[in-house]
This record gives sequence, structure tokens and C-alpha cells, in this order.
Amino acid sequence: MGLQIGDTAPDFEAETTEGKIRFHDWLGDSWGVLFSHPKNFTPVCTTELGATAKLGPEFQRRNVKVIGLSVDPLDAHAEWSKDIEETQGTALNFPLIADPDRKVADLYGMIHPNASDTLTVRSVFVIDPDKKIKLTLNYPASTGRNFDEILRVIDSLQLTSQHQVATPANWKSGDEVIIVPAVSDEDAKKKYPEGWRAEKPYLRYVPAPKG
Ligand code: BEZ
Repeated sequence: MGLQIGDTAPDFEAETTEGKIRFHDWLGDSWGVLFSHPKNFTPVCTTELGATAKLGPEFQRRNVKVIGLSVDPLDAHAEWSKDIEETQGTALNFPLIADPDRKVADLYGMIHPNASDTLTVRSVFVIDPDKKIKLTLNYPASTGRNFDEILRVIDSLQLTSQHQVATPANWKSGDEVIIVPAVSDEDAKKKYPEGWRAEKPYLRYVPAPKG
């Protein structure tokens, strides 16, 4: 059984493009996104790392630290970084883990042997400040991920960690949210004195709480 939502994200030591790190110390009190990509000097991965770097200010605004991983060595990361800057118009602004012995990849189940024995799939782990895994995703090598979606999920996770609400399909920051079923109408009246919009007794919408 691989790592699941609610598990503690395993700690590790690794070499990165920004020096040696111990993962939990590096995360500190921040949220984290740990993501793997199959291989350096490959086209889809190049676009993914560029897209992530471009979203750097958005991750920062949400107090999220991002870290990438591939099973390539550190000198290859340094060489490939130049190509990313040249082709994607953005320098990397987050560390890349060099994991040639697959220590971290194995710890996080990023190698799916029936897809490839040697390369990681495109895994994503979103980790909260208590080091709990809040989201896992796995994409095949052939499909680049949508990093705007990862920001959208983080917006939902951060909101729902503070308030007893959930977010509906295709929700984005600022949209109405759903009062969770665990909150009775009686309690909802205290929390939302302005009331709510009910489409069914169990489907109650309110404006997104602030802060
Ligand atoms: C890519 O990033 O383009 C890629 C990497 C590994 C296998 C297939 C595609």
C-alpha cells in the first residue's frame, strides 16, 4: 500500500540544486509540494518545470514551498536548468532533488514498475504544515500536469483546513462553498447568521469565509 492522504510525509535527506536538505526541516512551517518528473532533458518535463517556476509568486503567496525530483544526478540538474531557462523563459526558483539511487522515489512510491522500472511517474504530494499528506496525484510520463489545478487544490485545502466547509466541483477561489453535512442547521445558523442557499437539505451553499 502506497502513501495515502492523512499519512505523515516521510522525512529524508537529499542532495538538491540548492544544497543538502532534511525534508521536514526544509519545509518548516510551510505547506509543501513535492513532485517527481521522469527524466531530465525530456520535452514534457522541461515545460512542467518552466510552468512551475512561472507560478513561483503564486506558491509563495500561499506559503507553499515547492520541490521537484528526478532520478538524475545533480550535475545533470545544473546542466538542464540552463535549457529550462532558455526555452521556458524562466529560471528555476525552487530546488530539484537529485535521486539517482531512487531513495526518495522508493520512499514515496514514485516508481510504478508496470509503467517503467527505472523512471518515476509524474507524482505530486501536497503536504500541510503538520507534515500530513493532503493530496496525492500520479500522471503518466506522456501527460504534463496542470499546475493551475495544483494551486486550485491548495486554495481548497487551505480554506477547508480553517473552516467547516467543502468546495464543489470545479470550484475556484472566491466561489461559493458548501457547508459540510457534519454541521447541523442549528449550528449553521450560528456560523452563518445571514443564512445560506439550500438546493437540498444536504446541499447548502454560503459565500466563501474570509481569512
Ligand atoms: C517527457 O518529459 O517528455 C517524457 C519523459 C519520459 C518519457 C516520455 C516523455
